[in-house]
Amino acid sequence: MNTKNKENLITPIIGTSKSIQRIKEHIDRIADTELNVLITGKSGVGKEVVAQNLYYKSERKHKPFIKVNCAALPEGLLESELFGFERGAFTGAERKKRGKFDLAHQGAIFLDEIGDMPLALQAKLLRVLQSGEFTPLGSEKEVRSDAWVIAATNQDLEKKVKERLFREDLYYRLSTIKIYIPPLHNRPEDIPPLVDYFIKRHASQFNGKKIAKPTPDAMKKLMAYSWPGNVRELQSILQSSMVIGNWEEVVDDLCMNDTPDVNSTTDRKGIDNALSVEALLDHIKEYSPTNESFSLKKIRKETMNIIEKKVISHVLYQTEWNRTKASKILKISYKALLYKISDLDIKSPSSNC
Ligand SMILES: Nc1ncnc2c1ncn2[C@@H]1O[C@H](COP(=O)(O)OP(=O)(O)OP(=O)(O)O)[C@@H](O)[C@H]1O
Ligand SMILES: [Mg+2]
Repeated sequence: MNTKNKENLITPIIGTSKSIQRIKEHIDRIADTELNVLITGKSGVGKEVVAQNLYYKSERKHKPFIKVNCAALPEGLLESELFGFERGAFTGAERKKRGKFDLAHQGAIFLDEIGDMPLALQAKLLRVLQSGEFTPLGSEKEVRSDAWVIAATNQDLEKKVKERLFREDLYYRLSTIKIYIPPLHNRPEDIPPLVDYFIKRHASQFNGKKIAKPTPDAMKKLMAYSWPGNVRELQSILQSSMVIGNWEEVVDDLCMNDTPDVNSTTDRKGIDNALSVEALLDHIKEYSPTNESFSLKKIRKETMNIIEKKVISHVLYQTEWNRTKASKILKISYKALLYKISDLDIKSPSSNC
């Protein structure tokens, strides 16, 4: 397939939120630097879409894009997949096989689910990243690979590094550039353009039948839903709505079963709610010192808001949203609690849809 045809197959990055716009700007800047990129974010947020877009923006688009899912194969197979083997390297190795790093030479290799790579293989990967060379199983000859490495994970790799489950040196090598894709419920403004895009993309499956768009009320509900499966879930909901032909019915079913995760680390305003230092730092990174709104006072206030929101949400959950009880536990007045709920945008599970 030639490059133009391949390019037509890639999914464009749809979205108008600040975070998606920033990601697109990053892609434009990063694409030709050839620096290693680590893409993070929950399942279904679009990590693979971003990886493909990076590749197609780069000059390497004329060379192969090779994807390897590091979670899909047991250690031995993953090793032979990545680095290849010589004939007779092990029982059953009847023919020599080229590794994915070799196949991706001058192109890009997308190491998906990198957080699942076994420690022993991490050492071998580090060597390729450092020297651009590797040795296939059963071979004595070094193979050179100039592959651009783009990795992705939905795991907290910094935590895995602390737990010694992921090599620190490899983590720093892989994450020269980091792209974080926030969960969909933190960027509800991306939902209408995504809905339009998916309706157009899947319309051809309906043999020219006119597809109704969601009513304003259904769209409002879609924007309030918690989307645990992120964009992938939105896409599959849209497909079933298009088949059933009744938006209200599908959306109401969806909302009825919505159980927002009270332990979720993020809220609808994109504020990371977790009490971990990493999560706070992640949020603070949004403020560049060159940004007008950067100030220690502002960061202190935001940090306090995150902590207060987490504590109040937890107490409300424990008291099943009995605000009188919750205010007593928190030792603030009932009125002050109501003010905090509104100011910090704390949503009760039933107000989601
Ligand atoms: N911004 C976006 N614009 C258009 N389509 C998107 C976008 N984000 C995600 N998608 C679509 O959502 C689906 C899931 O995306 P993708 O496979 O890239 O997610 P992922 O983060 O790699 O998920 P996982 O962690 O489960 O592998 C795909 O069908 C993709 O086309
Ligand atoms: Mg993926």
